[in-house]
Amino acid sequence: MKPVVLRTPRLVLSTPVAADIGAVYAHCQDRDLQQFTTVPVPYTVADARAFVEEFVPQQWALGTECVLALRPAGGSELMGVVSWQRARGAVGYWMGAPFRGHGYMAEALRGLSEWVFGPEHDVDALRWEAFAGNLGSARAARAAGFRWVGHGPCQLPNRDGVHPPGWHGELRREHLGTVEALERWPVLA
Ligand SMILES: CC(C)(COP(=O)(O)OP(=O)(O)OC[C@H]1O[C@@H](n2cnc3c(N)ncnc32)[C@H](O)[C@@H]1OP(=O)(O)O)[C@@H](O)C(=O)NCCC(=O)NCCS
Repeated sequence: MKPVVLRTPRLVLSTPVAADIGAVYAHCQDRDLQQFTTVPVPYTVADARAFVEEFVPQQWALGTECVLALRPAGGSELMGVVSWQRARGAVGYWMGAPFRGHGYMAEALRGLSEWVFGPEHDVDALRWEAFAGNLGSARAARAAGFRWVGHGPCQLPNRDGVHPPGWHGELRREHLGTVEALERWPVLA
């Protein structure tokens, strides 16, 4: 697949490039990010370089994962990353700590979903999963329209190869632009 550029009211989503390696490295030092994702720990500049220069272009070319950097509209700074894990039918994301709590990830997920559900793809649903306890991820997913599905082991293993307890959600095309009541998300209510 060819990398795309997506626009939301406050953000531009475009593929990470070499100039982003420093920002990816810096953001991936964050403890919450390391706890709730499978990035290598410790996270090195070589890891950031391999992610930007090898993993991202390879995954786009294969069409298995579409990784986009979140940038401010009118700016180029990498704030976070969102991805359509196309082969799995799922989303993945992280936001740099200085940019959290402004609704940016929910906005990026809405923009990504509109593209995924667009006419060029034959997709009706996207899955979300998080390690149990990841309230921030659950809130961002709910704010983007995901519906609560339930508890169960994560499909993706953690960095120890274990499938830890997880939380699961789903966004269907008809849910775009709507938010499920908080009471339906037992881990948030
Ligand atoms: C989860 C994460 C991506 C959220 O990014 P963000 O840009 O702060 O999210 P938003 O500002 O769009 O927040 C959306 C909602 O989540 C809430 N939220 C965000 N982070 C939160 C946190 N750490 N704890 C509790 N609530 C949180 C916001 O208040 C908002 O809630 P509301 O819609 O009820 O007002 C970010 O905290 C992060 O990168 N965490 C570490 C990595 C991670 O967990 N990635 C996801 C793996 S599944």
